[in-house]
Amino acid sequence: MPSTLPPPLSSPESKRSGEARVISVASGKGGVGKTVIATNLALDLAQRGLSVVLVDLDVGGPDVHTMLGEYSPTSTLADFISRRVHSIDDVAYDLLSYRGLRFVPGCGQTLATANMSYATKKKIIQKLRRIDADSIVIDVGAGTGFHALDFFLMADQQVGVATGDPSSVLDLHRFLKLAAMRCVTAAFKAGDPFSKALRIFDPGSIHEIYRIAEDFGCKDGAVKALAGYRPMLLLNRVGNESRTASYQLRRLLENFFGRKIDLLGMIPEDEEVRRSVHSHLPLLAAGTVCPAADEMRSFGGAMLDRLESRS
Ligand SMILES: Nc1ncnc2c1ncn2[C@@H]1O[C@H](COP(=O)(O)OP(=O)(O)OP(=O)(O)O)[C@@H](O)[C@H]1O
Ligand SMILES: [Mg+2]
Repeated sequence: MPSTLPPPLSSPESKRSGEARVISVASGKGGVGKTVIATNLALDLAQRGLSVVLVDLDVGGPDVHTMLGEYSPTSTLADFISRRVHSIDDVAYDLLSYRGLRFVPGCGQTLATANMSYATKKKIIQKLRRIDADSIVIDVGAGTGFHALDFFLMADQQVGVATGDPSSVLDLHRFLKLAAMRCVTAAFKAGDPFSKALRIFDPGSIHEIYRIAEDFGCKDGAVKALAGYRPMLLLNRVGNESRTASYQLRRLLENFFGRKIDLLGMIPEDEEVRRSVHSHLPLLAAGTVCPAADEMRSFGGAMLDRLESRS
């Protein structure tokens, strides 16, 4: 695999301070391009001089390794969860062809790893934050299961991906809404009356959640829980017909959140992406010049701005 990376813009060590910042990439629907986006984002940040760890947290359906051409990783996250290795650093190995990038392969082939407790998920994210790196990019699995919602929410920067298909738009809207509910219920004890009421409630907006919380006398707790929930959007496989879907998605989300949701980019449908997946060489590693690569770089730049403004 060729090493075509440009030199880093600055020394990674010079930027590192405190814990690594975590970025999650998720979607309601499968196959929208999460793995393509997470992998290329991690590469882009590494190419800009950051020290990055790409983590496959698509529990049960890990596929980042194939995107990278790492067909049979010798150790995975499962080795950390089942305590076969002491530290998560032991499964974060250097990708020799990609300077500045390390990789933690995913898991989910055993009942224990496919059904992690909330505490285990929290521990994984805490340990990842303590890795000596600037940024951790996590590829979260598809769907609205607790694993996907929790890993998405535990990140500092949360990116929801949809394509321009109407069904994908609705799926992402549902995902982000359920994530809001999970964010609040996770902050209360399982038996708490408010948490129980919220589990069977289908709110039309964040303000409805606050209203219910007020009825139970715990509005402050709900507001505090949702304070760190600032999802952003990325549209992928965009074509001319995606304009309406993009508008609808933003309107749906604005109605729910009561504020604008940042759109970090619109990556076009591009044959080069499909080609890169089939050659197991990420687009930005191959140095391919194409519209999708341009837009992925601009997404990386937008993310870097956010990482820097919050550090
Ligand atoms: N911008 C794009 N242009 C063309 N094809 C794309 C683009 N983005 C993704 N694809 C195609 O979509 C396929 C699915 O992408 P990817 O595996 O990243 O989706 P995913 O959301 O991670 O799927 P899963 O939910 O199954 O993990 C890729 O193999 C690629 O062929
Ligand atoms: Mg994937």
